[in-house]
Amino acid sequence: MKLLKLIIKKTLIFKVLIQFINIFRYSLSYVSRGNLLGGFYWFYLRHKVSLLGNSAGSKFYDNYKLTAPLAKEGLMQINSLSKETVAKLEKLFLESQSENYSSLEDFIDSKKRKNEVRPSGISIALNKQMINQVFEELDLLPKVKEYLDLQENEIYFSANIDCLLNVDETPEFEERSINALEFHRDIDSLAFVKAFCYLSNINNGCGEHQVLIGPHTKLPLALRIISRFSYNELIKKAPHLKLKSIYGASGYSWLEDTTMFHRGTVPIKAHRLMLSLSFNDARSAKHIHERYYYPLDPKL
Ligand SMILES: [Fe+2]
Repeated sequence: MKLLKLIIKKTLIFKVLIQFINIFRYSLSYVSRGNLLGGFYWFYLRHKVSLLGNSAGSKFYDNYKLTAPLAKEGLMQINSLSKETVAKLEKLFLESQSENYSSLEDFIDSKKRKNEVRPSGISIALNKQMINQVFEELDLLPKVKEYLDLQENEIYFSANIDCLLNVDETPEFEERSINALEFHRDIDSLAFVKAFCYLSNINNGCGEHQVLIGPHTKLPLALRIISRFSYNELIKKAPHLKLKSIYGASGYSWLEDTTMFHRGTVPIKAHRLMLSLSFNDARSAKHIHERYYYPLDPKL
């Protein structure tokens, strides 16, 4: 009986059914809070994007002038942040913590003592001066608007800084870290793109971001289920995908379609501080993201 249950659980149709039920149940939680459109969009986009893909970047390649590599490869390097801006962002990160820390090292030591792998990040989206500085240095908005094929008043965004700790001396750190950092695809809204900026130097072993490059339109159904997957499992089912690790000095930045499989890695040599910016179609995002997402157009 146990074996039969296990076999059923591993069958694709069972996984699809469970996904359907989970999405439906979560949709109802929006409805029960009076957010009918949130419930509708959650149900619609979780199925649509996981099964059929991101609406952003899906037009003909000729439509993309500033973002051709992003449309083709799924990611592209953009301008780096200046040293001054990186320093300001690190300061902001420390100042936004509930406790006082004299430096990032102090923050990291304290979290290590508490055995935390991934302390919660902070949102900087409402800090207009900082956001404008970041957008300007990255020359970001023209690319985001082109890629999403949307105007500023049709885009919602979030901006978070978070830190991955190298907690290699703490018990079972690897197991706990790997669980939090397995390969996955983001399903954030109907059309979306993300920008990432390293705020610390990232070499091998510093929590580098990894992406599986290659057409995700060819994914087998088993990999379209919303889940986390190991590298070996993915390569077995989709051998055309190629692993790419992203290294760069502090300030290094790129745009990415995170409906491609991606993950952060477990830092074993040094911490990783990173700014993540998410740009989403307002149509769905304003209903499903009830916190930390804001209109890009300051007049809204
Ligand atoms: Fe992700």
